[in-house]
Amino acid sequence: MNPLYKWVGSKRAYLDTIKGLMPPTHNTYHEPFFGGGSLYFDLEPRLALISDANKHSINFIKALAAAPNDLIDQLTTTVGHHNSVSKPERRRLFETARAGYNQRNAQGWTLIHLELAAAFYGLVRGAFNGMWRVNANGEFNNPFGDGKPLLFDADHFRSASKLLARTTIRNVDFGVAIGDAGEGDFVFVDPPYFETWNGYVAGGTFGVPEHYRLQRVCGDAAKRGAKVMVTVGDHPYLRSLYKGWRLVEMERNQQMSGKAEGRKKEVDIVLMGGYE
Ligand SMILES: C[S@@+](CC[C@H](N)C(=O)[O-])C[C@H]1O[C@@H](n2cnc3c(N)ncnc32)[C@H](O)[C@@H]1O
Repeated sequence: MNPLYKWVGSKRAYLDTIKGLMPPTHNTYHEPFFGGGSLYFDLEPRLALISDANKHSINFIKALAAAPNDLIDQLTTTVGHHNSVSKPERRRLFETARAGYNQRNAQGWTLIHLELAAAFYGLVRGAFNGMWRVNANGEFNNPFGDGKPLLFDADHFRSASKLLARTTIRNVDFGVAIGDAGEGDFVFVDPPYFETWNGYVAGGTFGVPEHYRLQRVCGDAAKRGAKVMVTVGDHPYLRSLYKGWRLVEMERNQQMSGKAEGRKKEVDIVLMGGYE
């Protein structure tokens, strides 16, 4: 199955390489940096634990698992309305929805919030480059995108909901999530790129302290018998941190730079621990 929305840093383009490097068998599937969940949706695992620090995407995913019909009904109406009006009117609807989302978010809320879930989908689909991006205050601040009709496929949502309904979905830090991986489990670890953009979460940075902590929890999971795969941008610090882990390089097309000259080839590395 395809993911439900685009997500910055998604590993969709490398699924074949990643799948070729997975262990041949495993117990529970864990994805602690879920984002748009491209590997999860492709694999459709029977038993899975997925999580992300981003409350908004997890709220959407939980709402779809718990109340698919309500979410689909709401989106059928709002997306249908959005797609029936002119481009300037779509922009106005997007900007009103963004302001409304930020206002409601500032008041505090708990998972599962159905209206925010529906609004999240419209915003992430309608925003520039389909990106969820927040400022330091946690406000969604990505501008309106290309104004094309919003994609929404109710059947895809229904299939995704059935898959999600048999999955444990959490809004937790990776330390908690990876700490639950046990012997024979497979953990797919896809953190934000080293010392670059981390606008997924307010005040987010993912530099040396986070990667150091991540390696520790991944190493502990591998020692418990879990099979751990980590995908990161190639960097000498990360290579030294994962010394002794099996390493495979994959070429990446820079997706975060808007400028043509910035679209140089970069290298990602896949690091594997706890299995051959
Ligand atoms: C590279 S993206 C994951 C992309 C995903 N694998 C996909 O295919 O769509 C990294 C994710 O890490 C999440 N994240 C950032 N800091 C985190 C933390 N401390 N714990 C858990 N998730 C975190 C972000 O919200 C983001 O969704």
